Amino acid sequence: MTERIKKVLVTGGAGFIGSATIAALQNCGHEIYAIDNLSFGNRQFIDLPDPHFFEIDLLDRLELAKVVSHISPDWIVHLAAIHFIPYCNQHPVAAAQVNIQGTMNLLDAAKNVRNLEKVFFASTAAVYPISDRAISETHLPAPTDIYGLSKLTGEHLMNEFHLLTSVPTIVCRFFNAFGPNETNAHVIPEIQRQINAGCRTIQLGNLDPQRDFIHTSDMARAIGKLLTAFDRGIDIFNLGRGIEYSVTEVVAAFEQVLGEKIAIEVDPARVRKVERMHLLADITKLKNFIDWEPKISLKQGISTLIEHQPLVSIG
Ligand SMILES: NC(=O)c1ccc[n+]([C@@H]2O[C@H](COP(=O)([O-])OP(=O)(O)OC[C@H]3O[C@@H](n4cnc5c(N)ncnc54)[C@H](O)[C@@H]3O)[C@@H](O)[C@H]2O)c1
Repeated sequence: MTERIKKVLVTGGAGFIGSATIAALQNCGHEIYAIDNLSFGNRQFIDLPDPHFFEIDLLDRLELAKVVSHISPDWIVHLAAIHFIPYCNQHPVAAAQVNIQGTMNLLDAAKNVRNLEKVFFASTAAVYPISDRAISETHLPAPTDIYGLSKLTGEHLMNEFHLLTSVPTIVCRFFNAFGPNETNAHVIPEIQRQINAGCRTIQLGNLDPQRDFIHTSDMARAIGKLLTAFDRGIDIFNLGRGIEYSVTEVVAAFEQVLGEKIAIEVDPARVRKVERMHLLADITKLKNFIDWEPKISLKQGISTLIEHQPLVSIG
């Protein structure tokens, strides 16, 4: 059965997850529009004609309303945010403005779109408190930083929007994404950067914390399937891989792909004083709702990263 083609607006479309999401939705034949102020994203990441790309800021309320009304999307996928946690901690006001006021502006504009069928909101695992076990959606949120707090507020805004409009609304709590087109200095691109700079002793912060790394192409498939399947109410889904890896294991995966030994030195300047030791998604609810399995292992994902930007071998 072929699915009806939808007009989809992706905010933050030129970003890391946005670019993978757009590619996946284009593969399903949907007509894509993107809004991005290119503060972190890159226009080259996406293959969209200029009339479908709007370089505007979520905080420009009037321009945003004009563009949303002009596009008149069937689906909105709201990914635009400031999300790199060290950046949010240094710029808490900017993070709160974009993630809260920006979301309010988008939802205000969305309220006037008559044909709007669904809204998808990118929330985060950072809404959860520290936990040593896999976290399911029933775990009570208790964010520990401004980023998580701003996203939890975004979830409340989605709830309010849904109560007002009845538009089916998906809140998806993303865990740690990895893949091509990374826009922020997360641990995997940082390891890749140092290896590419010729280092075989790399400088990192805390080595023991474990994270649930999911490849952006697996995420994008899940986002597409959720958008297709979800048709009433508002609900929350975790989106992760359901497997945790420590930083040391990530470096070991790079070693395997590169075929060279990589030593690690802990750089005290990079060590976070407060750190979660575990962040693992329970993805049972998502897997029960859509026919989806994450396919890309950490090692396979690192191999694809290297295809995009080959590692410099000094061996
Ligand atoms: N990357 C992860 O591991 C991760 C984990 C949890 C949640 N998330 C969430 O997923 C979404 C996408 O994250 P990402 O990793 O692709 O980050 P990203 O920074 O690559 O993407 C966000 C995009 O939003 C754009 N943007 C920022 N402020 C804007 C504004 N005021 N107006 C218009 N555009 C603006 C940026 O230019 C960027 O292209 C975010 O909402 C983020 O909070 C990401």
